[in-house]
Amino acid sequence: MSGLLTLRGMSRDGLEDLLDRAQDLAAQQRPGERGAGRTVTTVFFEPSTRTRLSFEKAAHLLGAHVMSFAPERSSTSKGESFKDTILTLTAMDTDVFVVRHWLADAAELTAVWSGRPVVNAGVGRREHPTQTLIDALTLRQRFGHLDGLRMAIVGDVRNSRVARAHLAAFPTLGVELTLVGPTPFLPTSDPWGARTTTDLDAELGDMDVIYLLRIQRERGAATGIPSDGGYARRFGMNQERVSMLKPTSVIMHPGPINRGLEIDGAVADGDRSLILEQVANGVPVRMAVLSAALEGEQ
Ligand code: CP
Repeated sequence: MSGLLTLRGMSRDGLEDLLDRAQDLAAQQRPGERGAGRTVTTVFFEPSTRTRLSFEKAAHLLGAHVMSFAPERSSTSKGESFKDTILTLTAMDTDVFVVRHWLADAAELTAVWSGRPVVNAGVGRREHPTQTLIDALTLRQRFGHLDGLRMAIVGDVRNSRVARAHLAAFPTLGVELTLVGPTPFLPTSDPWGARTTTDLDAELGDMDVIYLLRIQRERGAATGIPSDGGYARRFGMNQERVSMLKPTSVIMHPGPINRGLEIDGAVADGDRSLILEQVANGVPVRMAVLSAALEGEQ
């Protein structure tokens, strides 16, 4: 494997191999040595809590050195370009790059400039592949299978790289996706291959998974949508909506969450919520992806 830029086009076997590898690592709960003598460099041009720290913990657990690049305390602030930054970090013997950036091409460009495996940690609106793997593992652990599950992805779908990564992989894994939100948040035509609807309440009783998204104001999401109060009334997950779900249905969110907007605090903290299980699975999934990338690089 030469890094992980996208889940699009990956086979079911390829996806399941990564999930199996992550499941084994989660069960082991102990450091490995696959990364000994190797360097993983995280390059995050956008803020992150879960993704950056879980990649860095995963790299440490694999025994790798970690270099953590943050533009605000780097020579980027003196005018150094993205390309020169990548060339500089490559010259410091980076074996694998982990890249988050507002630019949709940033991971591909890093791969071209560095000639090293690159893991996409969320670029522009394009894709957030490891988040989808985390969510697939979390669901497989909960339900014992993925085939036949029905998931509603609710909220700011149009700006969401998580939604795009889900659309790239979950149908391959047998999960049926429905996109739910106000019209400005939904794809304009049907290039994404999923059913869309603006009526969340009509979907609740049929879904196994309600997957909530944050409104991405930093990507211009605020125009043309209801006020925060209006959004919460139509699309927010509250206790009344939880009571409309099947007894086995679960609630997920990639984080960070906005309590009181897309999800009520009591629901986020409630027994249907898998949010912290998603976070916990970040480390073994990213260990699996990094170890595959390091093997591919040898
Ligand atoms: N889910 C996710 O990508 O969270 P962070 O932005 O905190 O990394």
